[in-house]
Amino acid sequence: MHDPAELRSLHQARFGVEPAIFVAPGRVNLIGEHTDYAEGFVMPAAIDFATLAGISPRTDGKVVIYSENYQEERVFDTDALPKMHSRHWSDYPLGVMAILAGEGHTIPPLSLSIWGDVPLGSGLSSSAAIEVATMLAVGSLAGASYPGPVLARLCQRAENEFVGANAGIMDQFISANGKKDHALLLDCRDLSYKLAPIPPDVELVIANTMVKHAVTGGEYATRRAEVEAACAVIARHRPEVKFLRDATLDDLARWGGEMTPEALKRGRHIISESLRTVAAADALLRNDRKELGRLMAEAHWSYSRDFEASCIEADVMVEQAQDLPGLIGARLTGGGFGGCTVNLVEAIHAAEFRARLAERYEAKIGIKPEIHLCHASEGARKL
Ligand code: GLA
Repeated sequence: MHDPAELRSLHQARFGVEPAIFVAPGRVNLIGEHTDYAEGFVMPAAIDFATLAGISPRTDGKVVIYSENYQEERVFDTDALPKMHSRHWSDYPLGVMAILAGEGHTIPPLSLSIWGDVPLGSGLSSSAAIEVATMLAVGSLAGASYPGPVLARLCQRAENEFVGANAGIMDQFISANGKKDHALLLDCRDLSYKLAPIPPDVELVIANTMVKHAVTGGEYATRRAEVEAACAVIARHRPEVKFLRDATLDDLARWGGEMTPEALKRGRHIISESLRTVAAADALLRNDRKELGRLMAEAHWSYSRDFEASCIEADVMVEQAQDLPGLIGARLTGGGFGGCTVNLVEAIHAAEFRARLAERYEAKIGIKPEIHLCHASEGARKL
């Protein structure tokens, strides 16, 4: 994470006022991909890449947002804040303000500086981190404070309604509610959750394929539509099935013939993935590393072959990790089509694992990957 003291002096130098500082982490998903919008289970952890938001009041009727990452400032009148996206980095903080305003809060004149180190477009939820940090920061001035799950839902609405990305609840939820040294098994139906400790001798090794990923791109939406199409076919026979969460592999066996081949495969991924996720949480709680690794491998190939959301680079990154000393489990993490793999690795082997995986990946793909040794971190908070 970037140094909050640096953001403090940066904000002070630009706006002449000492800011209050908030932080919201990115996330890595250990297992449970595209299951959130099917009301199934996911098991992410917050990580030590994060977005910092510094905030202070103004007296001139303006909302001024500065991004240190983009080295750019945007200025708005408080009574003329944008009501929709403009495909600009400021969509995320502005989306959060629009949702807060819609909830009846007055957005006061403010200076907001944002600085994050979550790698962009890598499937580590840089956008959720910005939304959640902004929600805490602006909320603190607007007198809006919410319990973690509610805050996550509001940030998801900013993403869905303002930014225009039809994503699920996972990223905002874990950024708002993550727990240091724990993964979180989330039931995306009712937002109840269970924490599973990550043993102290296990590291989260996050390997960036350097292939860019975007949730706003068409592939995410296409997959979501196919998942919903699979659900609609089952619902014709079993009207109580509202989401694939309610469906079983037997349902697919009976009525899969009425689906397009794509919908059938997507459905198979979602239904099996949700079951795997619950089993993986159980394995983590029992510290059954062999079973956890097996489930992660199964999840990766289901994501790659049935959901067709992987890419050659991510498949190679997972394959090349398999026989390295210390590996517990590896899979592509996040929305898919590039981004990072998550590797659970025994800590004593983590440094060597990183070096050898980087070497092997570069030899096969011709791109130098960025590989990070991360830890499960605490969710969003004031510093
Ligand atoms: C993105 C979305 C999440 C989730 C994942 C896939 O990160 O924002 O809601 O659907 O993809 O698991």
